[in-house]
Amino acid sequence: MGREQWNSRTGFILAAVGSAIGLGNIWRFPYITYENGGGAFFIPYLFAMASAGIPFMIMEFTMGHKWRRAAPGIFTKLGVDLKLRLQWLGWFQVMIAAVIGIYYVAIIGWSISYLGLSFTQNWGDNTNDFFFTQYLQLGAYSPFNLGDLLLHIAIPMFIAWSITFFAVYTGIKEGIERANKILMPLLLIIVLFLISQTVFLPGAQKGLNYLFQPDFSQLLNVKVWSAAYGQIFFTLSVGFAIMLAYSSYLPKKSDINNNAIITVSINCGFSILAGILVFSVLGHMAEEQAQPITNVVSSGVGLAFVTIPEAISHLPIPYILGPLFFTSLVVAGLSSHISIIEAVISAIIDKLNYPRKKVATLVCGLGFIISMLFATNGGILLLDLVDYFINNIALIFSCLVEVIILAWFIKASIIRHYANQLSDFNTGKWMELCLRYMSPVILLIILVRNLINTFTQGYGDYTFMDQLLLGWGLITFMLLLSIIINICSKNNRHDDKENL
Ligand code: ALA
Repeated sequence: MGREQWNSRTGFILAAVGSAIGLGNIWRFPYITYENGGGAFFIPYLFAMASAGIPFMIMEFTMGHKWRRAAPGIFTKLGVDLKLRLQWLGWFQVMIAAVIGIYYVAIIGWSISYLGLSFTQNWGDNTNDFFFTQYLQLGAYSPFNLGDLLLHIAIPMFIAWSITFFAVYTGIKEGIERANKILMPLLLIIVLFLISQTVFLPGAQKGLNYLFQPDFSQLLNVKVWSAAYGQIFFTLSVGFAIMLAYSSYLPKKSDINNNAIITVSINCGFSILAGILVFSVLGHMAEEQAQPITNVVSSGVGLAFVTIPEAISHLPIPYILGPLFFTSLVVAGLSSHISIIEAVISAIIDKLNYPRKKVATLVCGLGFIISMLFATNGGILLLDLVDYFINNIALIFSCLVEVIILAWFIKASIIRHYANQLSDFNTGKWMELCLRYMSPVILLIILVRNLINTFTQGYGDYTFMDQLLLGWGLITFMLLLSIIINICSKNNRHDDKENL
């Protein structure tokens, strides 16, 4: 049986956009922007989008289209050309996707719960206390002492897994493409409606000023640049096997450059819309409470589940705007979760040649069971720790190795020519410069900085053992497992000598 294919170009773009637009845009982008000085963040973010986001997207679409395999298969093929064993990198990326998929679903679960609560703003006046003490029931727990399984978190997570399962089980055309054709337009309509309701509220302007006023002095701050690049890779779903898998289902005659640029632009445009929405709501709340905006915002997870609920209670029709906000979080999260899990499924199907339905059942079943770790009293602590190590170390490392292999060993010029030949318009030499020089140098700086900071200062208040086992240990385990799978694979030296 031939490889499954997208039904239409729009279907593929919507699926790629659905993967890119996720919790990263609504939950992460506003707080990263906030933590990095508001408007100060925009220049590095847009720069990272142009210099790394677009070239990486073109590169991954090219690889998927050319080799028509999931990540491990693609890197195996590249390894044949280079006489190197590279399959491990594909598996390492698949493992990053698997780990993200397992904790990401917890945040979708919280969003589903909050969607229910938002009809009556059942979170009370002290939203911080509500979220941490009543909802998460976080007490004196730790990532190794997780406490009990909380059914009110496990059930919404089960709902989220069921929707993802339904999409990946049904297949590319009938499942994933169809789901995104419904979810993406729905998401855009909801967010535009919410913005139309919030942007004119008293104080909203102040929030927007905070978001858009550039602070050029921050351009010398490495932390801001590092946050911008880190966010770009996560938000665009590159470097963790997803876009490779999605583009492997492209028909032979497919545009690459245009599809990549459309996907990146819609995603980053959407992030800015989400920023406008969140900051106009925060500006309004700050005005109501007669406080500066910096006093009302909390960072990290707290922004979506503490500050926004409080702000929703200050909005005109909270029983409509609140549910719509959390629906947008759920929809964005699900369309990404589907793609994250598909990255794992497609790799296993390629490897074992099992039917999709069987693999989907296995992956979602196992994923659901493991994800229950996050439905416990201490789940948020585990999530925070794993999220930090995966995004700041594993993902950046994976992107760095990928770009070195592709842009230096395979050669950026070959990738560019391959994509240009298929596309409506050509990319120029800038694309090679970005892939060969700019992206590797910046990724290396970020990785070294993150490694040094994490080695010397650790992360958060977690104990040394927690970080050693669940942070460093997890990454080492993923790496070793990928290498073992690579060593055990017979088809490393595949006979296929097809060249790019
Ligand atoms: N790209 C996805 C997101 O932003 C993973 O949430």
